[in-house]
Amino acid sequence: MGPCHGRVALVTGSSRGLGRVIAQKLSEAGADLVLNYRKAGGRSEAQARALAKELVERGSRAVAIQADISQKDAVATMFQEIAAQYGRLDILVLNAARAPFKKVGELLRRDLLELVENNYFSNVYCMQQALPLMQGRPGHVVFVSSLGSRFALPSYPLGSMKAAMEALVKQWAVELQDRQITVNGVTAGLLKTDSLMVLRQYWPGVERLPASAFVDLQDVAGVVLFLCTDAARSIRGQNIVVDNGLSNELLHPASAG
Ligand SMILES: NC(=O)c1ccc[n+]([C@@H]2O[C@H](COP(=O)([O-])OP(=O)(O)OC[C@H]3O[C@@H](n4cnc5c(N)ncnc54)[C@H](OP(=O)(O)O)[C@@H]3O)[C@@H](O)[C@H]2O)c1
Repeated sequence: MGPCHGRVALVTGSSRGLGRVIAQKLSEAGADLVLNYRKAGGRSEAQARALAKELVERGSRAVAIQADISQKDAVATMFQEIAAQYGRLDILVLNAARAPFKKVGELLRRDLLELVENNYFSNVYCMQQALPLMQGRPGHVVFVSSLGSRFALPSYPLGSMKAAMEALVKQWAVELQDRQITVNGVTAGLLKTDSLMVLRQYWPGVERLPASAFVDLQDVAGVVLFLCTDAARSIRGQNIVVDNGLSNELLHPASAG
């Protein structure tokens, strides 16, 4: 009987990386899970299905749903399936992200569309579809952000979308105050996920940074879980930095070498 017992949670982009760890954490806390991924037929789908099976074997309810959340119709179809399977939603974790690694000056129109559609429109579509399913009960929404929302990182235009979403977190928190739905963000530091393998092409040496520069995925997921519990009901519209202290020492001489 964990703190999320009886709650239904959707984690976007939970086939792998941080989303997967957040889904596991919510399941351990008693939630029934909707796992979402983008790409049909490949490794991602296999991973999402394997995780759903694992959670079911441990006694939770869990389903894996393919939906490219940058597409409004696909989001609507995913929520129809959630309504059919569970009839409710209590927790929404907006974790999925997808973006080109390029300098801003090199962004083509299609890159700009990819940025906005996958990292802003997608979250608004999910939120608009989720709210009717969260009707009449307290609920929790958590957006997963990154330090790129406030610091310039190499070839990381995604940071500007994270900044926009962090502003939206505050807007939503106010709009939903009367509905007892909390909306918060978790601004994660560097994580060792598949993205790091891509990032190292644009940020030489990033993978050789000291271990302390990275934050444990479990630690980020733990804060997301906390924000999805009743204990956090008075935290609203906040973007909480979980980066193992990295952003405190960017200009500190001790971190220069
Ligand atoms: N990695 C870092 O260092 C870092 C640091 C701070 C914050 N973050 C943030 O943490 C979150 C997770 O990052 P990660 O590194 O774990 O990502 P990741 O390993 O690249 O995994 C991304 C997940 O999102 C899914 N996804 C992407 N676009 C989607 C779409 N349009 N519709 C549905 N699902 C989609 C992917 O599904 P497919 O596999 O099917 O494409 C995958 O499950 C992101 O918001 C990221 O910005 C990451």
